[in-house]
Amino acid sequence: MEENMKVVILPLVKGEEHKITDEFTKQKYENEVYSLKENEINTYVDRENGSWVHIVGLGEKEKLTPKRAFDIVGGASRLKYSRKYENVIKIVDQGLSKDVLDMLVVGYLSGRYKFDKYKSDRKKLKNYTIDTGDMEINFNSARLQAEMTNYCRTLSNEPANVIYPASLAKKVMKLGKKKGFEVEVLGKEEIEELGMDSFLAVSSGSSKKPKLIVMRYFGDKESKEVLALVGKGITYDSGGYSLKTSVHMMTMNTDMTGGATVASAMAAIAQSKLKVNVVAIIAACENLVNGAAYKPGDIIPSMGGKSIFVGNTDAEGRLTLIDAVYYAKTVEKATRIVDIATLTGAARFTFGEIATSSISNNDEMFDMMSEAYRLGGENIGRLPIFEEYKELLKHEYADLTNIPKGPGTTMAGLFVAQFMDDVPYVHLDIAYTGMSETAKGPFAIGATGNGVRPLFNFAKLLSEKDDK
Ligand code: BES
Ligand code: MN
Ligand code: ZN
Repeated sequence: MEENMKVVILPLVKGEEHKITDEFTKQKYENEVYSLKENEINTYVDRENGSWVHIVGLGEKEKLTPKRAFDIVGGASRLKYSRKYENVIKIVDQGLSKDVLDMLVVGYLSGRYKFDKYKSDRKKLKNYTIDTGDMEINFNSARLQAEMTNYCRTLSNEPANVIYPASLAKKVMKLGKKKGFEVEVLGKEEIEELGMDSFLAVSSGSSKKPKLIVMRYFGDKESKEVLALVGKGITYDSGGYSLKTSVHMMTMNTDMTGGATVASAMAAIAQSKLKVNVVAIIAACENLVNGAAYKPGDIIPSMGGKSIFVGNTDAEGRLTLIDAVYYAKTVEKATRIVDIATLTGAARFTFGEIATSSISNNDEMFDMMSEAYRLGGENIGRLPIFEEYKELLKHEYADLTNIPKGPGTTMAGLFVAQFMDDVPYVHLDIAYTGMSETAKGPFAIGATGNGVRPLFNFAKLLSEKDDK
């Protein structure tokens, strides 16, 4: 009997009735179930069906957004899923929108995630079932978004002795084969030929050679519009000669999270066969120290032709991205550019873990991104761009400085966006949303996979637009 038991998660909005068959628990819970508060879990044993049922309070239906559904069910799933028994999410008809239903399922699947591949005593995850009763709902897109969210989390969490530029490139090639997008990997000589000298300067301190990983998916051959997704790909950030402290360095294997995010989103886009053209780019390298490394005070060239004063070798992400977005615009002919990066510690003081920080030069594009974030169950905050900020990027000896005065997160974004004035762009800083310092909601400690669903949804919204 015990082995065949099931662990059932049953999310219910406030006031929704649920039939409890067990007489004992019925008496105990009958009154409470109907008034279950948001985030509260009530458990009873359903002897008839051989299951433990965890009723999860979704709060008031009117206030239920995709994000709340994701957070609440993700939290319940993380706390209650079982590696020993079969797992079920039971979805009953309570008039929820498809957007909410999808994120409920994505939350459920995200809560089950654990980065335990290096633990020899790890237990295989039991299968799950989505039980929707008589309702016919297709959860293929939700499952795919969850799969790629969790894929992204593993790729980010991988230590830097496993994921470095060449191994990252290999992983992405494998992913492309499986999901249906093309991957081209450019080596050091080709990167040199392109003149990506700012990117190369960052990579100079490592014996592992840089790779420019370019993913292409052309789902709309008639259109000339190309969306570029550019992800920061620092596979390890020691800070370089502006060395980080041990504590800050410890998690810097995750500094390629932006890259993992664009690859994962690309996989979801390609597998969904969206009618849209997308190029995803990762300028992958390590930021280390050796006799050839770049140094504080260096003045380096960039692909776009501007010289850069390197005030701090730890502000390396923007140096790789300034070339990567310029490459996206000029070589790949991108007509819209999104870059996503674990870029600034200062993002802790803009919106922290609550929302991804962003800047944009285009209201229409930003509004679409904002809707994509809502659908993906995440928050985004837009920082204003004042003309005065742009002056602060200038240096006395060089065209630009990589440590401008001004608000850190905005300034880093403006640095990256240096050559994007004539292209609509959204810059996303996920330094504090890509990682969770504590286990909460759908998240275990470590990479969250945030950004994957918004980027996928952004491409989807674009594909549904008729005047692209
Ligand atoms: N990768 C870091 C940013 C970061 C910090 C991500 C904490 C996640 C958590 C980035 O390369 C960096 O070191 N930025 C510096 C820039 C500064 C030297 C201008 C920072 O924010 O301290
Ligand atoms: Mn750094
Ligand atoms: Zn970094």
